[in-house]
Amino acid sequence: MAATDSIHGMWSSRLMFILAAAGSAVGLGNIWRFPYVAGENGGGAFVLVYLACIFLIGIPIMASEILIGRAGRQSPINAMRSLAMDSGASSGWQVVGWMGALAGFMILSFYAVIAGWVLSYVILLGSGAFVGADADLANNTFQGFVGNAWSVLGWFTGFIVLTVFITARGVGRGLETTVKYLMPTLFVLLIVLVIYAAVTSGHFTEGVLFLFSFEFERLTWGSVLIAMGQAFFTLSLGMGAIMAYGAYMPKNTSIIGTATTIALMDTGVALMSGLVIFPLVFANGLESSAGPGLMFVTLPLAFGQMAGGQFFGCIFFILVAFAAITSAISLVEPAVAWIVEKLEATRVVAALLVGALVWLLGLGSAFSTNILSDVFIVGEMTFFDTMDYVTNNIVLPLGGIFIALFAGWVLDSKIRDEEMKGDLPYYPIWRFLTRFVAPVAVSIVFVMTFLQN
Ligand code: PHE
Repeated sequence: MAATDSIHGMWSSRLMFILAAAGSAVGLGNIWRFPYVAGENGGGAFVLVYLACIFLIGIPIMASEILIGRAGRQSPINAMRSLAMDSGASSGWQVVGWMGALAGFMILSFYAVIAGWVLSYVILLGSGAFVGADADLANNTFQGFVGNAWSVLGWFTGFIVLTVFITARGVGRGLETTVKYLMPTLFVLLIVLVIYAAVTSGHFTEGVLFLFSFEFERLTWGSVLIAMGQAFFTLSLGMGAIMAYGAYMPKNTSIIGTATTIALMDTGVALMSGLVIFPLVFANGLESSAGPGLMFVTLPLAFGQMAGGQFFGCIFFILVAFAAITSAISLVEPAVAWIVEKLEATRVVAALLVGALVWLLGLGSAFSTNILSDVFIVGEMTFFDTMDYVTNNIVLPLGGIFIALFAGWVLDSKIRDEEMKGDLPYYPIWRFLTRFVAPVAVSIVFVMTFLQN
């Protein structure tokens, strides 16, 4: 039966779990990806679908992951396996765990490339490269940097080394301290930036309208799929990251309340990032649909024009880098925990092994903006684009369907009731959303996207 402690360590408190899970959720997905996919998909209506997905699908699935993780107290693969068997179901459910561990590799392989860009921008901003910059300079600097295979490769490799180092030190020590100071500082700086954009850009209303005016005729099923994929990605759902962290969560804390808190923080950071970036886009005559480079062009421009921007810009990018690391650690945790359990390896060995594989796979993405920029895998998508599209829009939501079905229908109701004790008033709502709404909604979006193409 379910153990009370995990062999990998435990969070020291409920707050620590919230911080760690928020550390996983808040990352490049909020600051880099949310603004640019919202921009590419026309803003307003896309944002609304995204928010609906967060609340109706994301929170219930996050609660499901915490529940499964905490009841199983092992790596997602083994937690799914043993809980399925305890519930009289097939041990084949562990496949969901496998798929998640694989998704973690795939996501980190391109995530680390963008995180590498962020690291290099720490130095660029700190060196004053953008002081007084105009849109052309910001654009050319970005193009020049991503076009240089060696520097992209170097920073990407550096980021993976950092991730492996912190992961090897284990839950607790490495992560808890990082997140405790990082999160609040990041929040404060974002608020400062929103105020800056509101006061100085002269285009704040335009930015707000872009994000919140709902023009539904611009919406296709393809963009609904991308909005849903973004909801999964930004909350770290569908691949076992939150499940792995749930395994280290103390008993007797409210699961639904915790999931809601994390989702609200995460959404707050994403919306604030949008409120910083879009006013700057309009103020500088940039394209809202500029793609993955959006943040790397707009933010340096803003910092270049702001008093003390060299200093604040450098700090801001350092914080984004930390936010990326705390997410990256959670991307490898499912695989690392499994290797430790199965091969009885130390965390150091497990982290090195995973890091090496991710690095190899990531070469394709690191070179997608330079050496391989003309190599398309599917349609017009580079290796990088393909990895990003497949993981976020297909693998994570698919994992989410199975996680919801497992938590809602398969898991022995005694285990479920026991874990959800602390959530009584919301338990029936969660159960309804998890059993019906989440799996059906994700399936409908899959089918409609497929039919429309
Ligand atoms: N949620 C993270 C972000 O927004 C990315 C992530 C996805 C982390 C999936 C873990 C699992 O940056």
